[in-house]
Amino acid sequence: MSPEISSHQAAPSETKAAANRYGSNAGQPLTRRDGLLKVTGRATYAADNHPEGLVFAVTAVSRIARGRVRAMNIDAAKAHPGVIDVLTPANRPPLSHDPDEKMPPFGFRVEVLQDDGVRYANQPIALVIAETLEAATEGAVLLDPQYDVEPARVDRATGLRFDPPGVGVGGDPSTAYGDLDAGFSQAAVTLEGEYETPPQYHNAMEPHAVVAEWDGDRVTLDMPNQALAMSCASYAAFFGIPVENVTIRSPFLGGGFGSKAIINGPQILAILAARMLKRPVKLVLTRAQMYGPVGHRGQTWQKLRLGMDSDGQLTALHHRSMSATSAFEDFLEPAANASLPLYASPAILVEHEGLRLDTGTPGPMRAPGEASGSAALEVAIDEAAEACGMDPLAFRLKNYAETEPGTGKPFSSKALRTCYAQGAARFGWSRRPLSPGQMRDENGLLVGWGMGTAVFHCPHFPAEARATLRADGTALVETGAADMGQGAWTALAQIAAEALGLDADQVEFHAGLSTLPDAGVAGGSAHTASAGLALHQAGGDAIARLTDLAVNDPQSPLFGAGNIGVIARRGRLYRRDDEARHESYAQILARSGQSEIIGTAKSARDPAVASDHALYSHGAVFAEVKIDPDLGQIRTTRLVGAFAAGRVINPRLVQSQYFGGMIWGLSFALHEEAVTDKRTGRIMNADLAEYRVPVNADIPPLEAILVDEEDAIVNPIGVKGVGEIGITGTVGAIANAVWHATGKRIRKFPIRIEDML
Ligand code: MOS
Repeated sequence: MSPEISSHQAAPSETKAAANRYGSNAGQPLTRRDGLLKVTGRATYAADNHPEGLVFAVTAVSRIARGRVRAMNIDAAKAHPGVIDVLTPANRPPLSHDPDEKMPPFGFRVEVLQDDGVRYANQPIALVIAETLEAATEGAVLLDPQYDVEPARVDRATGLRFDPPGVGVGGDPSTAYGDLDAGFSQAAVTLEGEYETPPQYHNAMEPHAVVAEWDGDRVTLDMPNQALAMSCASYAAFFGIPVENVTIRSPFLGGGFGSKAIINGPQILAILAARMLKRPVKLVLTRAQMYGPVGHRGQTWQKLRLGMDSDGQLTALHHRSMSATSAFEDFLEPAANASLPLYASPAILVEHEGLRLDTGTPGPMRAPGEASGSAALEVAIDEAAEACGMDPLAFRLKNYAETEPGTGKPFSSKALRTCYAQGAARFGWSRRPLSPGQMRDENGLLVGWGMGTAVFHCPHFPAEARATLRADGTALVETGAADMGQGAWTALAQIAAEALGLDADQVEFHAGLSTLPDAGVAGGSAHTASAGLALHQAGGDAIARLTDLAVNDPQSPLFGAGNIGVIARRGRLYRRDDEARHESYAQILARSGQSEIIGTAKSARDPAVASDHALYSHGAVFAEVKIDPDLGQIRTTRLVGAFAAGRVINPRLVQSQYFGGMIWGLSFALHEEAVTDKRTGRIMNADLAEYRVPVNADIPPLEAILVDEEDAIVNPIGVKGVGEIGITGTVGAIANAVWHATGKRIRKFPIRIEDML
């Protein structure tokens, strides 16, 4: 992080009011509970585990993208000193679940050596197990596979088109509202554009890894995991054992971004090898092996058509995405759905087409759908504003959706107008010339300003939690939450502390373990709301039980106060009608003879909330770019975001999430692309050196304004999602700034130097 970023880490003034309103725990910019462990190297990640008798597995992966493995030199690999065994389709032990069948709810078909077929480059084709990592690596090289090669399908010309049964995870492939033809016939101005987004790969700092150890028919897995309970159920099905026989330990994740919420083939193979050999097995994917079997953001080709009347009011909006998937799976970026929630058009049609390529299966990757879809939509909106001769912000306000377009549902909360206003004011948007190519800096660089709207929906996962008040007045709080680096340990502990009337440092917080209550999925930007609600309710349950003890005890100053008549604050219960009468948790427990009180909760979203309301986080992002008129070099020099996502539990962590999203948006706009060699179907830049991601020098000073927003509807704690929204407005904002600097409208991401020349 650049010094400019850290200078923005202090709680911005906008959040101070919120902090005060919510008391001593939630709302405060506490530092990360796990920070000290991480900076001192004491946080153990999956691959840091070395159980007694550990052996090492390495996957051999395919160098072709389509065909079959004709032969491998298994004898040579096995003859190498230290190599214990080689798993291939010929000797791979059976699995209890057919890997060519999907596993509900999120399970994809996986490649686990079920046959000799090759369906994409980097597909596992064998697993070599050895006494050392070096021997396993060398054994994999010695396999020297021979292939029957078929031509790889790598683009729209060679891929197989299909009408998808669904998009994303259980989404509808098309949605229509109103009369599109009538809308376009009323339009005074019509705009059409075609937009492309490339394949992108998650590239979490910590690669996918597992250490698997069996004890009879029970298995313990050390692995970074975003969805512990769901993964246990999936592994139990694959290995034919009861779900309670699977334990996943995932205290820390070095990033996940969606890729660690899905079960993948390589880990299954390692677990299988551990069972077969009756020894613990460690598998860590190499960086290159991350490009294939563990998901990515699928490529899209999107067509947008917008109709506007003479006032710039949308009359029709049509968004069609062709989204790429693998030859054998169905996951498609729900990109066109990005056009559903934002702009008030009387007629909207969004639809998707699938394209099968010989690639690894794509999957959810930070803001799946919205990131790619809003990249196209926000550029199209900028073009529409230009076509109408309007300022892009004025155009967006003209088409502001007061209720959810199409459904007419009210938003549970929507402070987007405030986001526009505060972001624009901070950025200085009102000084922006309407036409492009008008601004130069003191060094003669072209300067452009652009904006985009950010939006992300608010899913909610069922979750469970347990809160134990202890004799000394402190608490133990437990839920199987996953911290990918977003700060879940910290924010969730703050929510629990508030519910318990304690300071956060009086709360011991346990997470990242599947034997704890199920915290749902750390995904969909929904973890704080989902696991947080369970913690809030478990804490409330513990306090209710404690209150019962006190108000029914004639020796308590709270005797007779009744269950609703007390307040829990700073480790004491107070009579609501007379705060001079109070007693500490420890005193109540001591007199009761109980050593602890346990509160539990199972929480879920009230179905009526989603059926009656539209649930989204919102934001606005403003970008400045400077472009060298001779060299075409593009630098983003300022990024200002303003976001409204309900209640802010920890402004430091929330701001960090917004920064991360904005940086990824910049990366999407200007850097990231997995480049496929069309002759072979192999990814040519499958590493972190040539797969371009931004470095410190690429990131300008960032500002993320936390816009006040109260949401009494979305869930009882008023929290919406902050993890993924930052990427959504930023891509378009930067592309639109590039146009504003140069007059060049680039519709294919990433935008490159050569596009400027
Ligand atoms: Mo996110 S793609 O839901 O981890």
